Amino acid sequence: MIIQSATYLISSPDYTKCPKADRPEYAFIGRSNVGKSSLINMLCDNHKLAKTSGSPGKTQLINHFDIKSFAGNTAAGKPDAWYLVDLPGYGFAKVSQNQRKQWEKMIENYLRKRENLINIFVLIDSRHSPQQLDLDFVNQLGEWEVPFCLVFTKADKETQRVVAKNVKDFLDAMRKTWQFLPRNFVTSAEKKMGRDKMLQFIEACNNE
Ligand code: GTP
Ligand code: MG
Repeated sequence: MIIQSATYLISSPDYTKCPKADRPEYAFIGRSNVGKSSLINMLCDNHKLAKTSGSPGKTQLINHFDIKSFAGNTAAGKPDAWYLVDLPGYGFAKVSQNQRKQWEKMIENYLRKRENLINIFVLIDSRHSPQQLDLDFVNQLGEWEVPFCLVFTKADKETQRVVAKNVKDFLDAMRKTWQFLPRNFVTSAEKKMGRDKMLQFIEACNNE
């Protein structure tokens, strides 16, 4: 896939305010600071697209990006149009109970009701062994029957051996309750690792 253009469209406080559901949509979610915005920028090859930050809790609303891309390796023909969505992170310690409840309701509504949502990419920090918060979140998605993939981020920050072990341990932890395991990607926004595989996956979904 070749990205022809990637532009910021709108930030919405809930799913009813999101742009018209007239094209495939892919959302990025995961713990606060896991690298959602950085991954979106890496995929779109534009480091200024989604706002990234060293301090967690930067992304607060449902942020839509309008993407135009060409299938395959040549920039020819009519581009495909789709949306990427940057969501606020979960597990940010410095929020009140009330804010957390509000976040949960907004995310649940968006994930369950947004009709053009094709797939959620759940980002997990590849430096850590399985975290209950992430497992709880994917189990929740399972209960809601929302399709998702796992994306293990920041792989440049650890050795391959540690990353591979953390990925295996996470999948093993899921195996206790899941019959089928989701697809997973290992990425580094820094090194552009995993970009081709993720874009190929999106392209295949766009064409389904
Ligand atoms: P919130 O919007 O606050 O939930 O954060 P986020 O998940 O969007 O994370 P963001 O992309 O803002 O990245 C958080 C921090 O991690 C930034 O300092 C990034 O530069 C850094 N970071 C993200 N991805 C990578 C990566 O692949 N490698 C390295 N080395 N650093 C990364
Ligand atoms: Mg962000």
